[in-house]
Amino acid sequence: MLEESMDKPHIVTCTAPVNIAVIKYWGKRNEELILPINSSLSVTLHQDQLKTTTTVASSRSFQEDQIWLNGKEEDITHPRLQSCLREIRRLARKRRNDGDSGLDSTGLSHKVHICSVNNFPTAAGLASSAAGFACLVYTLARVFGVEGELSGIARQGSGSACRSMYGGFVQWIMGQKDDGKDSLAQQVEPETHWPELRILVLVASAERKPVGSTSGMQTSVQTSCLLKHRAESVAPGRMVEMIEAVRRKNFAAFAELTMKDSNQFHATCLDTYPPIFYLSSVSQQVITLVHRYNSYYGETRLAYTFDAGPNAVIFTLQQHVPEFVQVVQHFFPPETNGGQFIKGLPVNCTDLPEEL
Ligand code: DP6
Repeated sequence: MLEESMDKPHIVTCTAPVNIAVIKYWGKRNEELILPINSSLSVTLHQDQLKTTTTVASSRSFQEDQIWLNGKEEDITHPRLQSCLREIRRLARKRRNDGDSGLDSTGLSHKVHICSVNNFPTAAGLASSAAGFACLVYTLARVFGVEGELSGIARQGSGSACRSMYGGFVQWIMGQKDDGKDSLAQQVEPETHWPELRILVLVASAERKPVGSTSGMQTSVQTSCLLKHRAESVAPGRMVEMIEAVRRKNFAAFAELTMKDSNQFHATCLDTYPPIFYLSSVSQQVITLVHRYNSYYGETRLAYTFDAGPNAVIFTLQQHVPEFVQVVQHFFPPETNGGQFIKGLPVNCTDLPEEL
């Protein structure tokens, strides 16, 4: 049976959603193993939203490993891809040496062809590498019949990818060991925990970011004393407070921490030398809008966070979504050709008036 099936390609397709960090990861203590200078916490989106779909085929007739990203062939020798492939094959070999025949899995010597597509702009600061590497590692694991803890492998593809291995609220514990064995993602609460929580993505620009996260955080580690202070003295306390806010479903506390942490992350970018600017004037208008909205109601109903790009991610509760959508439509009118303001905020939006 096993021999027969091995003549045909073994094909597995999986999807993985992006995650949005509310306590940001920015800075590595080990570049190769991707070990962070602080722990971080994120919310994983649902599978049917912003996601990567990856298909891996393995066959004894393939001559070499190959990868296509959004239809274009990419360099499989990239060290991060190689780390993920190597680690999955190592676990598969271990599993077989331990006596598990892995009947459902592919031959260890077989090469793989990987096809990965995102249903959202790649590298525009929308966590594409997180979904991408999480999906790659999970799909490869299925192909090679590997089970168990995989976030440590996804982390070696892209740091934030380890958090997309779990749904709901996920922390990436920075760990202490030099070999990174304790630098893993862990679910804090499942996706069912806070069903009223909503996430809206306002795309201000779908262009590639000018400075990628990897090189940006490298320069920040080398030059920003604010980042050192943040990692050592701010982020640890915020992790504790954020986990508490999530567990208690305390939106006001969750929102304030989220906004402060986003602001501090972008302050460390400005403190980097030369400085890095991820926020645009549209991002700043969204920040102003959120604060005005909250103060208009005298309670915190909205929170924003921005990753390495100008696109705003808004957290709110279900009951406030219809009104907030109207507010966004009012201040950032949809483009006539698409009308999808959530997916395409026009950059030439009107200035915010003094009042809401
Ligand atoms: C701002 O995970 O993309 O989104 O580990 O170098 O691949 P590498 O970086 P990456 O950085 C993400 C940075 C962030 C914050 C976050 O997601 O925590």
